[in-house]
Amino acid sequence: MELIDGKEIAAILKSEIAEEVDAIMASGKRAPHLAAILVGHDGGSETYVAAKVKACEFVGFESTLIRFESSVSEEELLDCIRSLNNNSGIDGFIVQLPLPKHISEEKVIETIDPQKDVDGFHPVNVGRVVAGMPAFVSATPFGIMELLRRYKIETSGKNCVVIGRSNIVGRPMSILLSQKGVDCTVTLCHSRTKNLREFCLNADIIVAALGMPEFLTGDMVKEGAVVIDVGTTRVPSVQTKSGFKLKGDVKFDEVAPKCSFITPVPGGVGPMTIASLLYNTLLSSQHKIYQ
Ligand code: GUN
Repeated sequence: MELIDGKEIAAILKSEIAEEVDAIMASGKRAPHLAAILVGHDGGSETYVAAKVKACEFVGFESTLIRFESSVSEEELLDCIRSLNNNSGIDGFIVQLPLPKHISEEKVIETIDPQKDVDGFHPVNVGRVVAGMPAFVSATPFGIMELLRRYKIETSGKNCVVIGRSNIVGRPMSILLSQKGVDCTVTLCHSRTKNLREFCLNADIIVAALGMPEFLTGDMVKEGAVVIDVGTTRVPSVQTKSGFKLKGDVKFDEVAPKCSFITPVPGGVGPMTIASLLYNTLLSSQHKIYQ
């Protein structure tokens, strides 16, 4: 069993991005600039956005954090998005999810200019990924593809089960894995799937992205499988300073001994998500997706 070290690969990706930033600056251009909108004070969102800002500093990006109280109106938030769309000094921006219930996430995402949608959530980017066109790919699926590529994990003709059909992870993951050149045979499983265990037992690659701690158990995984754990449920813990620890969707102690490769939680997929967001922002600043 080999542990897939997302922390290490993310560090490599970030240093590659930092080198590109140095070259951009040396040519007299300004640094790439990522903005993040954070609404309210959700603990998880605060942590993720702080990590994104810190990662920008690390690679030499400019970053701007725009905060709103959770009482902000939908229209005020949409106005802020429109002004970022029109701000030529910003290469890309994200609106951290989830949002308060009185704000439509759909409307928010649709208001983001697809050319600045470095989260890859806008239907135009989702559609372009489906069509195999250049697009901003959602950061977590992009990060997972990068892990598979950098660990030289064979995908061609492999049976792959993706558990979870979210717009952010499961569904785009299923599209990327079935793309030409990747060539997996993909089954997208979800809460209504019958005989999930049988599907999993037939899988060479399992991507667990359903958000249920320790859902995937040893009896669901065949010998030699590759297991990618996307779960990041925060559970209370007395062992950590924050009072929380992250739990994956995989019962690691049972599953790991059966695997050829497995991602740990934390330190697997998570660090790749932020590195992928930076990569999308770099591509945006270089007009590499939309000319
Ligand atoms: N909430 C959880 N993950 C993400 C993400 O990747 N992007 C945004 N904008 N919000 C999130």
